[in-house]
Amino acid sequence: MAPAVQPRLQLVVVIVAIAALAAAAETTTHIKVYWHDVVSGPNPTAVQVARAAVTNSSSSFFGAVIVIDDPLTEGPDLKKGETPVGRAQGTYISASMDKLALFMNMNFVFQAGRYNGSSVAIMGRNEVFYAVREMAIIGGTGVFRWARGYAQARTHTFNVKAGDATVEYNLYIKH
Ligand SMILES: *[C@@H]1O[C@H](CO)[C@@H](O)[C@H](O)[C@H]1NC(C)=O
Ligand SMILES: *[C@@H]1O[C@H](CO)[C@@H](O)[C@H](O)[C@H]1NC(C)=O
Repeated sequence: MAPAVQPRLQLVVVIVAIAALAAAAETTTHIKVYWHDVVSGPNPTAVQVARAAVTNSSSSFFGAVIVIDDPLTEGPDLKKGETPVGRAQGTYISASMDKLALFMNMNFVFQAGRYNGSSVAIMGRNEVFYAVREMAIIGGTGVFRWARGYAQARTHTFNVKAGDATVEYNLYIKH
């Protein structure tokens, strides 16, 4: 009997060990970046590509689709000549008829520092006049493979006249 049981027991031990290693390898990373949505001037990083032909709401911009390639920086200021730590690439859509609430669908692509070459995918609802907006982190690449988590957005500055906005994003990523 014993020789037949032995290999099975070894297999169980190996599986338990692998599961323990996998659990230990999972970590939570917090990243804070500033997201700069530049709509004004000759080099906008957020451009409207579509809008509804008919809408009864001018205040919520319902139906507008904006494509972004917004710089992400460590500090709140977008300094001339500074290399961004990454970029937010994707779209946001005005998806509420009676509120200014956006459907965000973007990748945060890191291009400097320790996460250079890695990215996370963020998707969620962004009601822009709320103090804190929470969105889901639904995946990632590179060091963020298997990522899940959440992002919290807080407006840092909003230039009503120009339309430019700087938003603080705190990402909490399990990977
Ligand atoms: C626009 O339509 C929605 C949905 O039918 C309605 O709830 C809202 O009151 C309308 N807004 C205006 C400004 O007419
Ligand atoms: C990021 O990684 C790319 C590809 O390896 C490299 O070319 C680039 O110099 C790196 N950028 C920074 C700022 O480290």
